[in-house]
Amino acid sequence: MSSQNIYILGIESSCDDTAASVIYNGKILSNVIASQKIHEEYGGVVPELASRAHQQNIVPVVHQALEKAGITKDKLHAIAFTRGPGLMGSLLVGTSFAKSFAYGLNIPLIDVNHMQAHILAHFIDEEGFNKPSFPFIAMTISGGHTQIVEVKNHFDMTVIGETIDDAVGEAYDKSGKILGLGYPAGPEIDKRAQKGNPKAYQFTKPKVDGLNFSFSGLKTAILYFVQREVKANPNFIEENLNDICASIQYTIIGILIDKLKLATKQTGIKQIAIGGGVSANSGIRQALKDGEQKFGWITYVPKFEFTTDNAAMIVIVGYLKYLKGDFSEQNVTASARLKI
Ligand code: KG4
Ligand code: ZN
Repeated sequence: MSSQNIYILGIESSCDDTAASVIYNGKILSNVIASQKIHEEYGGVVPELASRAHQQNIVPVVHQALEKAGITKDKLHAIAFTRGPGLMGSLLVGTSFAKSFAYGLNIPLIDVNHMQAHILAHFIDEEGFNKPSFPFIAMTISGGHTQIVEVKNHFDMTVIGETIDDAVGEAYDKSGKILGLGYPAGPEIDKRAQKGNPKAYQFTKPKVDGLNFSFSGLKTAILYFVQREVKANPNFIEENLNDICASIQYTIIGILIDKLKLATKQTGIKQIAIGGGVSANSGIRQALKDGEQKFGWITYVPKFEFTTDNAAMIVIVGYLKYLKGDFSEQNVTASARLKI
C-alpha cells in the first residue's frame, strides 16, 4: 500500500476531554474536542461523571471530526485510540468505540500510549513549528502528569524522572483553591503572577533526589502560610493576591528548571521539548527562552491546541505506527497504568 494517501481517525478519552481528529499523511485535517464543564463545580475531575459524559460525546465528536476533515468513514485506513494511562471508566469508552468502529469498517486498529502522544505531538506538520531531532528531552507537564523523558527515537523513550505525588498542574490548581480561585486555577495564577513580585514570599523547594518531582509538600506549605497570614490580616489574600501568585509561580518554575538543568547535565542532551497544559504558562516559556541564552538549550513548545489533551497527538502516533505496520489485535484492552 502506498504511504501517500493515508487517512486515519484518532480518538482520545483518557481523562475529561472527548476528542477526535483526522490526519492525512502527517497533516491534521480536523481536531475536535468536547471539554466537560461539569467538573468545574467540583474543583476537579469526577471519574464517574467523566465516563458518562464521554458516552454522550463520543459519537457527535467523531462525526464532527470526519465532517470537518471533509471525508466519510469509508475513506479511513485505520483507527487509533488512547489505550492508557488514564481513568479506566473514561478509557473504556474510547477503546470500545474504536474497536467496534475498526471492526465494522474492517480496517486496522492502532493503540496509542497517551504519554508518548504528548511527546510525539511535536511531529505534527505545522507551519511555523520545528520538529525536534533525536535525541531530545521531553518534559510533559499537566494536571495529570509531570514527567521527564529521554527520547532516542519515535518509539524508543525512557522516563528519567516523574512526580512521586501531585502533578505540577495539580500544584497550581490546589494552590488556587487555597486562594479561593476557580478551577482550573493555573491560567489565572499565571495571569496574576505577571503583575506581582515573584520574590515577595519564599516557599521552600522540595528536596527530591535525581530527576523526580514532589509537589504535595509545596501545597501544604502554601496552605499553612496563607492560614497564618490570614489570621493576622483577614484581607491578606485580596490585598496581596498578585504577589502570592507570582511567588508560587516563581517557586514552581524554579523546580521545573532545576530538574531540566540536571537532566541536560546527566544526558548531555540540550534539546528540550515540552508538552501538556502547563506548557501554556508564561513563566516556563520565558525560562526556556532564557535557557537558550544561558545554557545553549534548543527548546520546542508545540502549538497550544496540541499541548492540552487532544486527539491530534493520538492520531500522529497512529500515523507513525501505521507506517511501521504496528497494529493492535481486537482483544486489546484499556490500561489505566500503561507505562511508556
Ligand atoms: O493538559 P491539560 O489540559 O489536561 C490534563 O491535565 O491532562 O492540563 C490542564 C492543567 C490544569 O492543571 C491547569 O491549571 C494547567 O494545566 N494550566 C496552567 C496554565 N494553563 C493551564 N498552569 C499554569 N499556567 C497556565 N498558563
Ligand atoms: Zn494528558
